[in-house]
Amino acid sequence: MLKNPRKRSCFLYLASAFIILCAGLFTTGCGQKNIPEQEELIRVGFSQVGSESDWRMANTASMISALSEENGFELIFDNAKQRQENQLLAIRNFIQQDVDYIVLAPIAESGWDDVLQEAKEAGIPVIIVDRQIAVSDDSLYTSWVGSNFLEEGQRAVRWLEATVQQQGRLNHPLRILHIQGTDGATAQIQRTKALTDAVRTHPGWTIVSRLKGEYTEAKAYELVRDFLATGQEIDVIYSENDNMSFGAIRALEEAGISCGTDSDVMIISFDAVRDALRLCLEGRISICVECNPLHGPRVVSLIRQLEAGEQPAKLTYVDETFFSAGILSEELIANREY
Ligand code: AHR
Repeated sequence: MLKNPRKRSCFLYLASAFIILCAGLFTTGCGQKNIPEQEELIRVGFSQVGSESDWRMANTASMISALSEENGFELIFDNAKQRQENQLLAIRNFIQQDVDYIVLAPIAESGWDDVLQEAKEAGIPVIIVDRQIAVSDDSLYTSWVGSNFLEEGQRAVRWLEATVQQQGRLNHPLRILHIQGTDGATAQIQRTKALTDAVRTHPGWTIVSRLKGEYTEAKAYELVRDFLATGQEIDVIYSENDNMSFGAIRALEEAGISCGTDSDVMIISFDAVRDALRLCLEGRISICVECNPLHGPRVVSLIRQLEAGEQPAKLTYVDETFFSAGILSEELIANREY
């Protein structure tokens, strides 16, 4: 042991210098290799509408897998359970937590000005996904990515025109039961608009009733069952998502009414999730208009552009199509991602 304090401190000094030198050589591999520095994760708060449909579940899965730690993100996920007040709360929490980005899948178009103004004042960019928002100032959000819901509706209506024409009844009376999604959601507003416009131009077409199915199977089942109990007859169901179609089919079949293009009632459905495509292949749904939920990688790409100092497009519409029995096969359905 070194008893002399000066000698001891000199020894300690040399020993620590030696340790630091060794550590330096070890970490740099004698200057040949640099271990990459751990990059900081990008913190993203995502406010999701809820879990009302198969489409929504596929959308959530896509967002979670794209915004993963592996891809450089820390995701704070909030499920608003179909309530706008929960979404407002979630966004305010994200602001408090000072996240790097806020991603919002809005339940409805209106009601966002105040909270997005708060996000703007906190300097947090907001990306909107799926449905759109109606705000007085467009600078309250950075970018939106989602579907062209009006085009989806028009695609459905064009198919209906072509089908009844083929059946030789274009100008015959056509009684349509309309099952709508959540009030004020872009998907509801635009798909409804396409049908309303078409009915206006076809004197024989009437909307027998409009039911508010809230995009859920349970609600649609209940409403269609009660509607059928009134004894009113219909030729077509225009259902604003697949899950509501599932509920409608159950109610129809329980009432002894068959579904199909050449049966009692034709069903027009939106989303094209796997179970709906199976019903379409069987002929029980006549047409599935695609609505693509796989927005996770698209949101990641928007964030990457912003991180690189680029200005992404304000609005990005995804490409979509439709399916009818003639186009479908088991193989096609099995290879779909949702
Ligand atoms: O906004 C997209 C719609 O919301 C989908 O059609 C529906 O299934 C979902 O819940």
